[in-house]
Amino acid sequence: MYWRGSPYEERQAFLARLDGVAVGRCSLTLPLSENTDEAGIEILVASAHRRQGIGTAMLGRMESLARERGRTVFDSYCGEPIGSFPEGAPELAAKSGTGGVPREAASTGFALRHGYSLEQVETTSLLPLPVPSGLLSTLERDALEHARDYKLLLWQDRCPETVVEAYAALKSLMTTEVPIAGLGWEGERWDVARVRAEEDTWCKSGIESLVAVARHDGSGELAAYTVLNHRAALPGIVNQEDTLVAPGHRGHRLGMLAKIANLRRAQLQWPDAKSVMTWNASENRHMLAINIALGFRPAGIEGEWQKRLE
Ligand SMILES: CC(C)(COP(=O)(O)OP(=O)(O)OC[C@H]1O[C@@H](n2cnc3c(N)ncnc32)[C@H](O)[C@@H]1OP(=O)(O)O)[C@@H](O)C(=O)NCCC(=O)NCCS
Repeated sequence: MYWRGSPYEERQAFLARLDGVAVGRCSLTLPLSENTDEAGIEILVASAHRRQGIGTAMLGRMESLARERGRTVFDSYCGEPIGSFPEGAPELAAKSGTGGVPREAASTGFALRHGYSLEQVETTSLLPLPVPSGLLSTLERDALEHARDYKLLLWQDRCPETVVEAYAALKSLMTTEVPIAGLGWEGERWDVARVRAEEDTWCKSGIESLVAVARHDGSGELAAYTVLNHRAALPGIVNQEDTLVAPGHRGHRLGMLAKIANLRRAQLQWPDAKSVMTWNASENRHMLAINIALGFRPAGIEGEWQKRLE
């Protein structure tokens, strides 16, 4: 379902074959509502077939398809697990000023060779499950001290009709509030239809989703939200999706409180899950601090590469 795209994003996926054997795959993602000058490109070459120009051929094809659609900004990301390079291996620093990627990685050589620059680096972190209940209770006690004027609202898969408009507004904020370094992306406009379209796609793709929202008692405003996703097809992994505390409601430990509630539910709902994965901009110190307190440990880094046509 995901690959069929949506009214907001067109997706195309390709397989590269050599003498009938699959040697690589690549994809093109074209935003349709905002960022309509941008294309997301992914390239993967099977390890036995690298350094033969296959990656270059696929990238050339993706870039020309993107250009035909009027796209002039190409974005690509690539992850490297921790331990794939020795500690202290030379790094290429991100233009954002925080973090770097191993200079010797194939993706680094390939991206630089094709005129991409390293705008930002994300940290991939992993939280082993279950999280000790004593740790969750301690963190929760502290958070509640700061969050007396808020209550949590929880749902699964489908946002209640009564708050869906306010939830859409929070999802718009998410796209302007996360650090994006010099990537220059426009914020997304989320409305009820877009929230429902995402929920439908997830549901049809076999993704279950747990959402925890903090609501301010006095104003009734939605102040924070966090989302965990799980697929029965990959039962061991839970993916941490968005977490946001709206400006004006920060400093009340709402990110921590919402995450604790969601983790507790995830452990009950998905007992086969062994870990939660999350991705944060390396400069996003506040989010990383919450994750570290919960027990997340660095698992890798991900380079956010970009090429802009003049
Ligand atoms: C990166 C990747 C796509 C390259 O595919 P490939 O088919 O091996 O690449 P090509 O043969 O077209 O290489 C083109 C140029 O990229 C650079 N390059 C590719 N692999 C490299 C490596 N391991 N080290 C340094 N430079 C490298 C070189 O300049 C190379 O030219 P050369 O062989 O004449 O020196 C492949 O290694 C891969 O799938 N890696 C895992 C996924 C990934 O990193 N995707 C890219 C996201 S940005």
